[in-house]
Amino acid sequence: MMNSIITGVGHYVPERVVTNFDLAELMDTNDEWIQERTGIVERRHIETGSKITSTDLGVIAAKNALNDAGLTAQDIDFILFATLSPDYYFPGNGVLVQRELGCKNIGAMDIRNQCSGFVYALSTADKFIKSGAYKNILVIGAEVHSFGLDMSDEGRNVSVIFGDGAGAVIVSATEENRGILATNLHSEGEYAEELAVLFPGTKHGWSDEVLKDEHSITKNEIYPFMNGNHVFKHAVTRFPESIKEALNDAGKTVEDLDLFIPHQANLRISQFVQRQLNLPDEKVFNNIQKYGNTTAASIPIALSEAKAAGKIKQGDLVMMTAFGAGFTWGSVLINW
Ligand code: UT7
Repeated sequence: MMNSIITGVGHYVPERVVTNFDLAELMDTNDEWIQERTGIVERRHIETGSKITSTDLGVIAAKNALNDAGLTAQDIDFILFATLSPDYYFPGNGVLVQRELGCKNIGAMDIRNQCSGFVYALSTADKFIKSGAYKNILVIGAEVHSFGLDMSDEGRNVSVIFGDGAGAVIVSATEENRGILATNLHSEGEYAEELAVLFPGTKHGWSDEVLKDEHSITKNEIYPFMNGNHVFKHAVTRFPESIKEALNDAGKTVEDLDLFIPHQANLRISQFVQRQLNLPDEKVFNNIQKYGNTTAASIPIALSEAKAAGKIKQGDLVMMTAFGAGFTWGSVLINW
């Protein structure tokens, strides 16, 4: 049976840096609150009015990942695109990447699992590779959050957290005895509306009345709603559960881990999980300070930076875990 390894990683973030001080000019917030509660110092936003999309960011990240793998777009035989901020309601970003990169007429699929999107996509790629269906799968996580955040005081608990960015990996088939060892994916739809964007959707209809009547849709439905405390509490429970499950399935222990790359939701969540697992600082990679929470892009951006910083070498045991809207959560454990 084939194993799946990551042969290339890449990322891209927009150049525009938005600091906590910049946000304090738009809404009632301050650097101290944001840093204390989230660890975030700054994030990246696309230029205002530039109409740059998550596909645009994802394509650059994908090119960087292809370069890193020493492959071309012609070598890719499947595309998985994880995003909660697609260019269009439909079709998905996957086909736009297929067009932009000039790939063959390969399959392209979008994954809608928000903060867990990359872990869901990577796990899906792993199964496709192991089934023998594909040899090189392009997996992208990319987001443009800044176009749809409520920058008034009302939206401050959400808007200070999220940032724009993209990361990508190439998952390839190998006969080598290494690669993805275990994955797990979970959901608990009971809490679907605790972190959500409710419009557009068929629940609200999509008729002329909705478009005409400014009172039929509220701010809470257009902008992301998040019950922050609730999300936090579930995240710090589900992260360790999922990590232990993956380690167990692979016959490994926490002590065997060389690097843990948590979804960059909130530095306080990552630190909480780190303490629970008793992991030393050098075994946990965080970069939320610079980018905020980029949902589906956060793990591949962190992976790309960790690899560039020389923190991952062949044979290392690397754990990636995410939790987010849905609720959804899961892990991917790799013998690199
Ligand atoms: O990626 C997965 C998805 N998201 C997450 O994982 C996020 C999980 N949750 C969190 O990270 C935290 O809940 C937040 C960082 C979002 C909020 O932190 P918190 O400690 O749960 O704060 P809170 O919502 O309980 O609010 C505390 C206070 C409130 O004021 P009062 O009612 O005590 O007077 C808020 O109105 O902080 C206020 N507040 C703010 N103040 C300044 C909320 N947002 C802000 C803000 N600046 N941006």
